[in-house]
Amino acid sequence: MPTSHNISRDFFSTQLVTWYGQHQRDLPWRNTTNAYYILLSEIILQQTRVEQGLPYYLKFIENFPTVVDLANAEESQVLRLWQGLGYYSRARNLHTTAKQIVANYGGMVPNRFEDLLQLKGIGIYTASAIASFGYNLPYAVVDGNVYRVLSRVFGIDADIAAGTGIKIFQHLANELLPRHNTSTYNQAIMEFGAMYCTPRNPLCNGCIFEIGCVANKQNLQTLLPVKSKKLVKKTRFLNYIVFKYKDQYAASIRADSDIWKGLYDFWLLENMQVSATIEDVATALDGHSGDNTIILETKIFKHLLTHQTLFVKFFIVEISNKNAVESQYRLNFYDKAELEQLPKSILITRFLEQYIFC
Ligand code: ADE
Repeated sequence: MPTSHNISRDFFSTQLVTWYGQHQRDLPWRNTTNAYYILLSEIILQQTRVEQGLPYYLKFIENFPTVVDLANAEESQVLRLWQGLGYYSRARNLHTTAKQIVANYGGMVPNRFEDLLQLKGIGIYTASAIASFGYNLPYAVVDGNVYRVLSRVFGIDADIAAGTGIKIFQHLANELLPRHNTSTYNQAIMEFGAMYCTPRNPLCNGCIFEIGCVANKQNLQTLLPVKSKKLVKKTRFLNYIVFKYKDQYAASIRADSDIWKGLYDFWLLENMQVSATIEDVATALDGHSGDNTIILETKIFKHLLTHQTLFVKFFIVEISNKNAVESQYRLNFYDKAELEQLPKSILITRFLEQYIFC
């Protein structure tokens, strides 16, 4: 019995199971312990609403009443029945799983958690659901509904998109699992999350956990559970033109607020889908800055920032008219000692050390 929580295990599970007895929807996979039907329903319901998945579940058990029927079907027939549900890899994995069950388990859905995990397309949640609903084994199911209920009732702000957060919730879910009738309890907590403790506008008034629920007490319902977004990294191609006059190099302070504001860099050529070539640079400089000669093209530096991946190339361009470059590009010329003193990004420092200061 967890004592560190505001609500005891017995109270938590009893409340949920009682609530479920009064409020559960009558869904066909809840009236069976046929592990194959449970498996079918759980694969169909991955990323799919119950109302959308229900007719597919009925179609599948009608067309393939046993695992053997499904295993023996043509893949095209399975995919045709799946049509409209999306995520077609689920259908292909389901078909493969049926064949694995026939080949390795004599057509019986395995009742060991570790064996279930070996089946194609079956992860911890689905293996737990089959073990629990099919075989009444004491495995806690943790899906999006369960994350919501646990994070709110117990006030847990661990990130459900991160490994450590997932472990914390799985551990708590195991701790809360009642000693008896885990199958009904698992259905109950998922149903409670789906029907009452909803993502938006949960029904907190008169809720069975109204008194003890941390989110309700502290008004945190909209903030829990915490799920970090995967960073979508932007790729940029930066091409620096480093104007050289005698032993001086032209630089300026970055005013752009996107990256490296206040640090010094060189004249920048951007807006390209790939790194620039010598021809690109020659075209960009054509007619500007008097005589110029591209004397060096560096390798491409890959530089990782939190939100961006940069591919950066430098071209050293020797020029004959310092004043023209200074006024046209708003740059100032610095010798090596001065350059070394200027505040710069790590990337610019790497370039200088490899190509200028060496
Ligand atoms: N979503 C996934 N599994 C479910 C189940 N067994 N009952 C209701 N919704 C579900």
